[in-house]
Amino acid sequence: MSLLEVRELTVFHGQLEALHNVSLSVDAGEVLAIIGANGAGKSTMLRAVAGFHPPSSGAVLFDGVEVTGLPPERRVQAGIVLVPEGRRLFASLTVEENLLAGRYRSRPGSFDLDRVYELFPWMVERRRQNAAGLSGGEQQAVAIARALLVNPRILMLDEPSLGLSPLAARRVYEVLPELVSSGLGILLVEQDVRQALRLADHVKCLLEGRETLSGTPDELSLEQVESAYFGIADGSRRPMPTGEATR
Ligand SMILES: Nc1ncnc2c1ncn2[C@@H]1O[C@H](COP(=O)(O)OP(=O)(O)OP(=O)(O)O)[C@@H](O)[C@H]1O
Ligand SMILES: [Mg+2]
Repeated sequence: MSLLEVRELTVFHGQLEALHNVSLSVDAGEVLAIIGANGAGKSTMLRAVAGFHPPSSGAVLFDGVEVTGLPPERRVQAGIVLVPEGRRLFASLTVEENLLAGRYRSRPGSFDLDRVYELFPWMVERRRQNAAGLSGGEQQAVAIARALLVNPRILMLDEPSLGLSPLAARRVYEVLPELVSSGLGILLVEQDVRQALRLADHVKCLLEGRETLSGTPDELSLEQVESAYFGIADGSRRPMPTGEATR
């Protein structure tokens, strides 16, 4: 039994079928990366797992218990935590105020402010600085740290490297292996395919709401991933998407 299991989920936004019969599972200590072009349905999947988009069919199970009908805050209490696309920090609050903003939702566990500052030592000196003054990569780190303070069991990251320089993206990604080895399950959405392939145990490609490819990074060739990503039969015509090139 997986920690998180999504069974044949279909989600509509009005008339638009954003996800069609997509299944996935994530175990504790495992990373599943969902990749795909703009509009593929990646954020819809994370938001549906978090409880923001009720599916028209299918189920979400957490620890073997169906949570499909639960509101978002109940899922957070269970340990399903989303770091949304675009980070969403409070710009006028300090770093530490942002970190503590989610404290009321916190579950018991090993993550507290001290542990977060151990993981991101630069935040200690800058904890009284406004979040608006941080770089994109620093903001992403604060968003991740804020999520960790909830003590999640499944952490969902929606395009953490979006808009970051390659170096800043690498820094954000650097902390993830340690979290995974401590037993956290990560459901990652990423357009930077190389970054996703480096970290993930399993990769799933979505195209227009449908799964086009699934496998371990070892099993999949770059050509296969590229065709699945763009929905083209001949993978040789376009360059691989990387963090710098996609947007
Ligand atoms: N709240 C909404 N209302 C209506 N349509 C939506 C809504 N959210 C997403 N969509 C549409 O659903 C489809 C999937 O969107 P989604 O945001 O899940 O894609 P994505 O893979 O995350 O794309 P991106 O890489 O641009 O973030 C798109 O066609 C999008 O326009
Ligand atoms: Mg998205």
